[in-house]
Amino acid sequence: MKKIILTSVIFFIAVAVQAADIKAGKEKSVVCQGCHGTNGVSPSSTWPNLAGQTASYLQLQLKKFKSGARQYASMNTIASDLSDNDIENLAAFFASQPAPKPSAADAKLVEQGKAKSAMCLGCHGGNAEGRGQFPRLAGQKAAYLEKQLKAFKSGARKGGPMNAIATMLSDEDMTALSAFFSSLK
Ligand code: HEC
Ligand code: HEC
Repeated sequence: MKKIILTSVIFFIAVAVQAADIKAGKEKSVVCQGCHGTNGVSPSSTWPNLAGQTASYLQLQLKKFKSGARQYASMNTIASDLSDNDIENLAAFFASQPAPKPSAADAKLVEQGKAKSAMCLGCHGGNAEGRGQFPRLAGQKAAYLEKQLKAFKSGARKGGPMNAIATMLSDEDMTALSAFFSSLK
């Protein structure tokens, strides 16, 4: 009896530790490649990179697309077919990929954004590298970042503290901050 209990405890621990399977995530990611690139570096200037993003943020967003809490037609359809396990594995795979190279941006705009960025770093990390559910912004596509800031400001995207923060930003601030963060390594 003791042996059975012990064996099931060990089995349970093994399952828990193996919860996220990067290899299974990579296999599943074939359906994502057309838009997010082979390794999560998007070929488009407006579609987001996923490479090097934090796993918990990726999971959270996939769950939001699945439930409809975040709206984007193609992502809602794709996420509705993913199980919780798929979501964990995909998040682990993309998080394990090397972060994207920074984009070239207008130097003056980058300086202007840098001057406004201090209030963002407490949550997004000192180099905007991301932390847990606070996403990496460094090296993300500028046009994508700007679109999200506008969506937070209008309320079209619900993002906890981001809705209030975005209301404090002008269109010019958003353009400059997006250029600055996309230029970071
Ligand atoms: C048809 C193109 C397309 C495909 C295929 C696709 N995506 Fe997306 N995905 C997008 C676009 C475009 C966005 C940005 C939506 C927006 O503007 O809010 C996005 C956003 C995301 C985000 C949020 C990123 C962030 O920084 O908040 C995640 C996570 C994501 N996709 C994961 C996936 C995964 C995983 C797959 C494959 C299972 C996948 N996507 C397949 C186009 C696609
Ligand atoms: C109090 C913490 C906090 C602060 C300060 C903060 N953010 Fe955020 N930010 C978040 C959280 C949490 C999310 C994820 C929201 C969600 O769940 O969709 C986020 C998401 C974002 C996104 C979406 C990223 C993506 O991949 O889709 C952008 C862009 C962003 N923040 C920019 C900024 C900028 C620019 C500033 C400074 C002006 C800032 N944030 C300050 C917490 C913060």
